[in-house]
Amino acid sequence: MSHHKRGEWKSELGFILAAVGSAIGLGNIWRFSYMAYENGGGAFLIPYIVALLTAGIPLLLLEFGVGHERMGSAPLAFAKISKRWEWLGWWAVIFVMFGIVLYYTVVIAWCLNFFVYSFDLSWGDDPNSFFFDQYLKVSDSPSSFGEIRTPIFFALLVIWGLNWAIVYRGIDKGIEMANKIFMPLLFILTTVLVFWALSLDGAMTGIKAYLTPDFSKLTKPKVWIDAYSQIFFTLSLGFGIMIAYASYLPEKTNITKNALITVILNSGFSIFAGFATFALLGYMAGQEGKEISDVVSQSIGLAFVAYPKAMTLLPGGNYFGAIFFFSLVVAGLSSSISIIEAFVSAVVDKFGVNRHKLITFLCITGFIGSVVFTTQAGLLWLDIVDHFITHYGLVVVGILECFLVGWFFNLELIRKHVNKVSSIKLGAWWGFLIRYFVPTILFIILIGDLISEFKKPYGGYTWASVIVIGMDWLLATLVAAFFIASRPWRTERHNEKGRSVESY
Ligand code: ALA
Repeated sequence: MSHHKRGEWKSELGFILAAVGSAIGLGNIWRFSYMAYENGGGAFLIPYIVALLTAGIPLLLLEFGVGHERMGSAPLAFAKISKRWEWLGWWAVIFVMFGIVLYYTVVIAWCLNFFVYSFDLSWGDDPNSFFFDQYLKVSDSPSSFGEIRTPIFFALLVIWGLNWAIVYRGIDKGIEMANKIFMPLLFILTTVLVFWALSLDGAMTGIKAYLTPDFSKLTKPKVWIDAYSQIFFTLSLGFGIMIAYASYLPEKTNITKNALITVILNSGFSIFAGFATFALLGYMAGQEGKEISDVVSQSIGLAFVAYPKAMTLLPGGNYFGAIFFFSLVVAGLSSSISIIEAFVSAVVDKFGVNRHKLITFLCITGFIGSVVFTTQAGLLWLDIVDHFITHYGLVVVGILECFLVGWFFNLELIRKHVNKVSSIKLGAWWGFLIRYFVPTILFIILIGDLISEFKKPYGGYTWASVIVIGMDWLLATLVAAFFIASRPWRTERHNEKGRSVESY
């Protein structure tokens, strides 16, 4: 039996920066911008805020509360609630570690490559064809892998190396320290970009498109589905991360205040960074005499096509580009380390293995697993895997978390615990949200999503690709989760009590 001491944050600020670091990532810039762009700019902000209030905040409080009270990573925290539900925690950390982070690191690698390309504007005057045809060399179907793209491969090696170096150093010396540098840096760089973009001709046309809601879009279920999945992604909910991070908090802490700060900084950052994107789109539309909706052809490439295009037009654009892609690397790393940590903490909690060896092993296997996304079919795989994990994996974990804690456990215990340590108290309304409201709304979203899924294969791919890559990915991780959950505990942690002394 192993009795390693669990890590702990050095300070409350360290925890907040780490939680914000996990939340703020590629999701806030790369994903948020193209989601907003695809779903009608300003129209997207309404469902985004609704999703934040109706699911994001209540679930973040739940994850922080459970992690802190049960004192464990997701599988341990859930096992301490009911042994039969341990698998749910494993499922989350497995599809995140062997799903999301595999392509997430590849997108950070693209950013690193584009950071270098910025200096001499390597994309020339056709960034669209540069990105898709020269850089990614995207093949025509997910089964045509073609070659491994060398620039991406080497950048990926650097990114996994950096992840390894940070997580290896531990909670306080690695993750906390990195975020103390990354977060202020990211805020400064983004502020520079936003004000620079706002000063350009035509910026206001873009801002108008960003802030003017097109209410007709709100009748489309897709806009709402995208908004909910974006909230899960952006707040790192259903990833098992926030549970693990809260478990490293000392006894005395302020959970509700920390959750609110995390939410405000994260969404504030997305909306703020959106100003830069839309100001640039406005500028480009003006320069090219086009409508905003016509300046970008494929939305997933927004950051890698629209930004470079604008940089070519912009005086000093190469510096703008370098700052932009560098901030994406910083934002991405602070999230990818949190994903790796969520898995590491789960395995250490259960099997008591040596943390350092595990991290080295995981970073090597993670790197190897990522390689499929560096092939010519990489973008297509990324698109499919991202769709299935974020739409089904995260949302299902969210629903089941509500059930587990709300119905099979004493939710009051968590609420009382949170209230005991926090300055802002949670009313009975929170219990109502977790027991009834959040699962119902997520269930409606899930059903809506499934209906559109069965109408036609996602993204115009073949049924075979969607099933083999997307659905099987979720299924394989689910099987792995049940398997690991069935293994015996090698530590005594699951027999320890939560922090709350009350019985239930
Ligand atoms: N929350 C992280 C992001 O938004 C995963 O990128």
